[in-house]
Amino acid sequence: MSGHSTYEPKTGIERWLDVRLPIIRMAYDSAIDYPTPKNLNYWWTFGGILAVCLVIQILTGVVLAMHYVPNAGLAFNSVEAIMRDVNYGWMLRYIHANGASMFFLAVYVHMARGLYYGSYKAPREVLWLLGCVIYLLMMATAFMGYVLPWGQMSYYGAVVITNLFSALDNVIPGVGTAVTTWLWGGFAVDNATLNRFFSLHYLLPFMIAGVVGLHIWALHVPGNNNPTGVAVKSKQDTVPFHPYYTVKDGFAILAFLILFAWFVFFQPNALAHADNYVPANPLQTPAHIVPEWYFLPFYAMLRSVPNKLFGVVAMFGAIAMLFVVPWLDTSKVRSMRYRPAARIFFALFILSVLVLGWCGGKEPDDVVLAVGRDAAGDPTGLSVTVFSRFFVLYYYAYFLLVLPILGLREKPLPQPETISTPVLSHGGAALPAGGTAEASKKG
Ligand code: HEM
Repeated sequence: MSGHSTYEPKTGIERWLDVRLPIIRMAYDSAIDYPTPKNLNYWWTFGGILAVCLVIQILTGVVLAMHYVPNAGLAFNSVEAIMRDVNYGWMLRYIHANGASMFFLAVYVHMARGLYYGSYKAPREVLWLLGCVIYLLMMATAFMGYVLPWGQMSYYGAVVITNLFSALDNVIPGVGTAVTTWLWGGFAVDNATLNRFFSLHYLLPFMIAGVVGLHIWALHVPGNNNPTGVAVKSKQDTVPFHPYYTVKDGFAILAFLILFAWFVFFQPNALAHADNYVPANPLQTPAHIVPEWYFLPFYAMLRSVPNKLFGVVAMFGAIAMLFVVPWLDTSKVRSMRYRPAARIFFALFILSVLVLGWCGGKEPDDVVLAVGRDAAGDPTGLSVTVFSRFFVLYYYAYFLLVLPILGLREKPLPQPETISTPVLSHGGAALPAGGTAEASKKG
């Protein structure tokens, strides 16, 4: 998509098309001859894995929509009909439902890779920002998709999340209620809400596909970052995308699909909630409302603050942090491979997100550390809510204190001159082109 094109049309048809719509040239330059750093490790295969996830979700979703009925009185049964009466409907639904989880698993790995190797730093800020937009769209899509089966957890998930907007009443009285009523299309989560969620759930994946196109474009202008974080200096540092990375990505995609298939065929409900097999009942709130696993850290942040408005701010602020990362990080060194202190803070950051996820799945009053018993004999002590606050604080401190300050004070390790140096200094010269065994061992 950028730089000098090496494509030479071979047949008459190719030459004819090339001067009218150079689409084959574009595909050739960006997926075959695209110069790719020769030291990319397996963390770089997740972009391709994500593209596959998006295609799977759209294909299965379009077919599911042929049988699904977006009506509050019929939705739950239409999903049961898909499971029992539609040919391979059970498989389509399980692929789509578990596909959402696999999509988020892959996107979290992809984002963590970006944070670790500094892929958001100049000149890749726009690429990162587009990624953040994709992530927001993914969250909106997944949230609305979960409402569609109209089970208990669908219904109450929609109630909890849409009600967050009523916190605006604390800023300008009446505005929150007005916005929430507008979102619902009535005075409660009901048929109108289900209808618009279905419409948007069908629309957003195509918007994601559009932003992914921009994301890849913004990738191909500066080119890939790589595990050393050192910029590509010459042709020596790169290999053509095909066959080197088509094969490596293809292998990773197959391995990922095996894990995916294991969930679909052996544990299709492991990541689901039993309450969603109970039809939505506005008169019976479930004892414990929890979102899907991929939203749990944010749910924990929301609940960690006693004030509703500030809870909402804490949750959305956590996502907003991602958007400004390129400008918060002051380090001149891209990759954490050469930033030993940053690696420790990063490990603690990942740990915090995981602990917050665990907290989000617990009851807020559950006791993490018991120090005694109350009159009823129940344990008392450090509650999940209080415990989660330490990790929320660290999450914010990582972005607002660690990234800006550490970059100015740390002593990074010496970086190699070129991305080939660490390979060649370990005898990698004897390897075939693209052989990077030593470099990829270092992580
Ligand atoms: C539908 C979701 C997404 C798709 C299909 C996608 C696709 C890709 C692909 C194919 C690449 C090149 C291969 C690779 O580096 O893995 C890439 C790179 C990248 N993506 Fe994404 N991406 C998605 C979401 C995101 C998100 C949510 C972020 C961050 C918030 C992000 C940030 C990046 C960055 C920084 C790079 C450059 C990596 C580098 O060269 O070091 N992406 N993406």
